[in-house]
Amino acid sequence: MAKKIIVANWKMYSVSRKKGREIYSKIKKQASSVKGIEVIVCPSFLLLDSFAEKKTARVSVGAQDLSFEKEGPFTGSVSAGALCDLGVSSVIVGHSERRALGDGNEVVAKKMKQALASRLRPILCVGEKERDVEGAYLGFLKEQITSALVKIPPELVKLITIAYEPVWAIGKDAKGAATPGDFLEKSIFIRRVIADLYDQKIATTIPILYGGSVDETNASSFLGEGRAQGLLVGRASLDPRSFGVIIKSVNNI
Ligand code: PGA
Repeated sequence: MAKKIIVANWKMYSVSRKKGREIYSKIKKQASSVKGIEVIVCPSFLLLDSFAEKKTARVSVGAQDLSFEKEGPFTGSVSAGALCDLGVSSVIVGHSERRALGDGNEVVAKKMKQALASRLRPILCVGEKERDVEGAYLGFLKEQITSALVKIPPELVKLITIAYEPVWAIGKDAKGAATPGDFLEKSIFIRRVIADLYDQKIATTIPILYGGSVDETNASSFLGEGRAQGLLVGRASLDPRSFGVIIKSVNNI
């Protein structure tokens, strides 16, 4: 069975260097007792260096964003090359919170290219803001996927992980998580879109994760009933006890 991928997205939640290091070492300890798992911790840029130095076979480090340019006069931006240089192996691309700050589909596509050019593994986030009964939101989802993958050759598309995160399910003001059954339906839809762009084999190998209000009570049902290849966890990833339960839920499926 393919490894389950559990991503911890610490966003810009207030974490001191000391606290961050403590949580990170607890996560490494918890992951060391769970087989068939890959944990990717995505702290602020400022913690990446010290975390990457201490990565393990099961716990690696990812960035929450990157620049859409390779290098140059882009004050405040961080390039894919600089992330690789630190030993970062993955990067979240197109998170809805970045999209809300102005990253459109074109920018997301450029970021995907920069990540892949440096052989960073992009975790591409897609998800609709709201649903309509006619199902137009599926077209929105399809466009997010198609535009992000444009001109990416098949040999590179295999490095990509997709996280389906309906925006209405993200954060403390959310309606709550989607259901495992709903996630399963959307992941089948996403695989169909990928099969049309590439082929069936690629569509079945790309990991699709669920994200949005994942916690210790629902993690195992998304992995089991929802057949998610993994989870993208926001708030609960900063609570080592909760995140420990989420990691261990891989053992329950
Ligand atoms: P949440 O965030 O788990 O806090 O809802 C998920 C995400 O934004 O990736």
